[in-house]
Amino acid sequence: MLFLLSCSSPPDVPIDSASESIPIDTDMCTDAPVLRWTNFGESFMTHTCQGCHASTAANRYGAPEEHTFDTVDEVWTQRNWILGVATGEDPSMPPEGGVSADDRKRLELWLLCAPEGT
Ligand code: HEC
Repeated sequence: MLFLLSCSSPPDVPIDSASESIPIDTDMCTDAPVLRWTNFGESFMTHTCQGCHASTAANRYGAPEEHTFDTVDEVWTQRNWILGVATGEDPSMPPEGGVSADDRKRLELWLLCAPEGT
């Protein structure tokens, strides 16, 4: 499983000291797996969202042009949108569902706990 590749996380951002920079529930992050664009996000976004949202998608199925997730920077710029539509009690993306609760939790932990832009 992808998140087991956590040993490749940057050595200068130990998850245990994340409380310095993250203005949220840091207990949740302290125990969280190390999730980053490189070991989770890119793969998740590609398989779960980019089928409709990629700038290069053959058929967007109506996905708005302004919501593309081609790069880690685009994802972080839209972090709150993504958390809003794809995590929580009543996610609306992807429209047909099909994402496991575990993967939604990983998405949430990634975007809440990882250093911004990673
Ligand atoms: C089957 C195609 C499809 C997939 C897959 C898909 N989307 Fe969408 N997305 C749409 C469509 C269509 C809209 C516009 C209609 C709407 O907002 O419901 C949209 C709208 C959005 C918006 C704008 C919402 C708003 O309120 O304006 C965001 C953000 C978004 N999607 C994120 C995602 C994320 C994150 C994923 C992956 C977890 C994803 N989408 C997967 C089709 C898709």
